Amino acid sequence: MKIAHCIIPLLLLAFSLRPRTLSLSGISAEKHSRILLLTAHPDDETFFFSPTLTALIHMQNASQISEVLVVCLSTGNARGLGRTRIREFDMALEVFGIRERNGFILDHPYLQDNKTAFWDPTIIARELYPFIRTHGITTILTFDAQGITGHLNHGSALAGAEQLLRDLDNSGGSEDDSESRHNMTTSSRSQAPRLFALHSRRHATKHLGPIAALPHSLPLRQRRKPETEALFVASAGDYITAIRAMMKHPSQLNLRWTGEFWKGLFSRYLWVNEWFEVVI
Ligand SMILES: *[C@@H]1O[C@H](CO)[C@@H](O)[C@H](O)[C@H]1NC(C)=O
Ligand SMILES: *[C@@H]1O[C@H](CO)[C@@H](O)[C@H](O)[C@H]1NC(C)=O
Ligand SMILES: *[C@@H]1O[C@H](CO)[C@@H](O)[C@H](O)[C@H]1NC(C)=O
Repeated sequence: MKIAHCIIPLLLLAFSLRPRTLSLSGISAEKHSRILLLTAHPDDETFFFSPTLTALIHMQNASQISEVLVVCLSTGNARGLGRTRIREFDMALEVFGIRERNGFILDHPYLQDNKTAFWDPTIIARELYPFIRTHGITTILTFDAQGITGHLNHGSALAGAEQLLRDLDNSGGSEDDSESRHNMTTSSRSQAPRLFALHSRRHATKHLGPIAALPHSLPLRQRRKPETEALFVASAGDYITAIRAMMKHPSQLNLRWTGEFWKGLFSRYLWVNEWFEVVI
């Protein structure tokens, strides 16, 4: 089992040296796009969203999108390591090339790291509302309801983002009732960000690492799952960036170094991110 975990993925690394495959049909990436990644704990951005972050930073550097921002809803203080983890978060974002001013961590009394707590979506929405307005966010990316690991805080992030969109919808509608119906629709649509959730995969395929990327790298990848509206596949270079970011989270790696660590290295989420749009 261990050998399979190490050797096969390393062999397959060779396959992923080919250029990154991106399918952005869903997430409309335009010059003005300001994309927010919403996470629950400092290190989620690295362990689950690396292929997306590396791809988005490439696009930002190429001026294909405007900004990439990350908001983490808690300091991850369940074991009293909150302060350390805030520093680790900053260093990991630096590895990804995310601008220093674009990383944020909330420390709200009702949004504390806790496996058994489903955070109140109205609190998340209230905290994010001014942020979304000030930063002109066009797209929000976050966990799906299962949140990959089943951690309740992860699923809360989606519930909070959904609540936020409802709130924005309500306020958007009342601001401009004088305009024509068509105009109102287009203007409120341009105000409310689009929301995408990261597809959680069944346990069996979680640690397939680059094997998970393989079907997407082959020319036969025509048939995408209909629910997959955007796809990011890491290249070997992106994977190395992800590993470098992982190394910036030593407080978390200590917990994972044995067994779990190897599984972590070959997690499919370091290679492939599949997104579907959540429509309110
Ligand atoms: C993006 O640009 C920054 C600053 O120019 C650079 O340090 C970084 O390596 C670039 N990243 C990518 C992925 O191109
Ligand atoms: C975690 O959440 C549960 C359920 O909401 C609560 O009973 C418990 O006290 C919380 N633990 C901590 C350490 O806050
Ligand atoms: C929307 O309203 C603005 C003025 O408020 C007008 O200039 C514009 O043409 C309208 N657009 C549509 C699609 O009706």
